[in-house]
Amino acid sequence: MNGLTENLNSNHRKKEFSCGKEMLDNYLQKQANQDIKRKLSACFVLNDKETNLLKGYYTLANNNIPQNLIPTEFQKKLPKSYTSIPTTLLGRLAIDNRFQGKGIGKLLLMDALNRSYEISKSIGSFAVIVDPLDEDAENFYDKYGFINLPDSGKMFLPMNTIKTLFE
Ligand SMILES: CC(C)(COP(=O)(O)OP(=O)(O)OC[C@H]1O[C@@H](n2cnc3c(N)ncnc32)[C@H](O)[C@@H]1OP(=O)(O)O)[C@@H](O)C(=O)NCCC(=O)NCCS
Repeated sequence: MNGLTENLNSNHRKKEFSCGKEMLDNYLQKQANQDIKRKLSACFVLNDKETNLLKGYYTLANNNIPQNLIPTEFQKKLPKSYTSIPTTLLGRLAIDNRFQGKGIGKLLLMDALNRSYEISKSIGSFAVIVDPLDEDAENFYDKYGFINLPDSGKMFLPMNTIKTLFE
């Protein structure tokens, strides 16, 4: 992969990270390393080389969604017997306040999509799923083509759409 982001480790300055959403700060500071150790998710960070501050982070994990959650137009090519569809969960994405509005959110989203696409060549994944915290986050993902999964609060972007971004 492109080397923009790196795996979170104990040398990173997590305590100073502040994105304006307490839940996302707390996750990085208190939970992320536990989840990594237990292999529940992977966490990638963008570290500012000058200040050694974390500019942003995102998490990825395998997950799946029921086929009936997927809008009909995207279900057409899926075998009906596959009740559960393999996907990749972009669980969290956050940029530190000091670095917001500079294009880093977009950069990290593209890094996460590229990483997910590369992994989908080895382990099948139909789409990237996000679970936006609030309307603000939903608007951000909407800008990049994520589609609402009705009645779930989740949004998805088909892997075949992501493929067109990188090939
Ligand atoms: C949402 C967030 C990730 C955006 O990161 P950012 O670095 O500030 O965004 P960028 O500077 O990369 O913006 C890229 C583009 O998205 C747009 N954008 C940014 N936040 C947006 C939002 N909430 N809604 C709609 N568009 C948004 C920008 O205007 C920009 O558009 P442009 O390229 O046409 O100028 C960041 O504000 C954040 O971490 N927020 C708190 C945590 C959060 O809500 N995370 C969401 C997932 S759980």
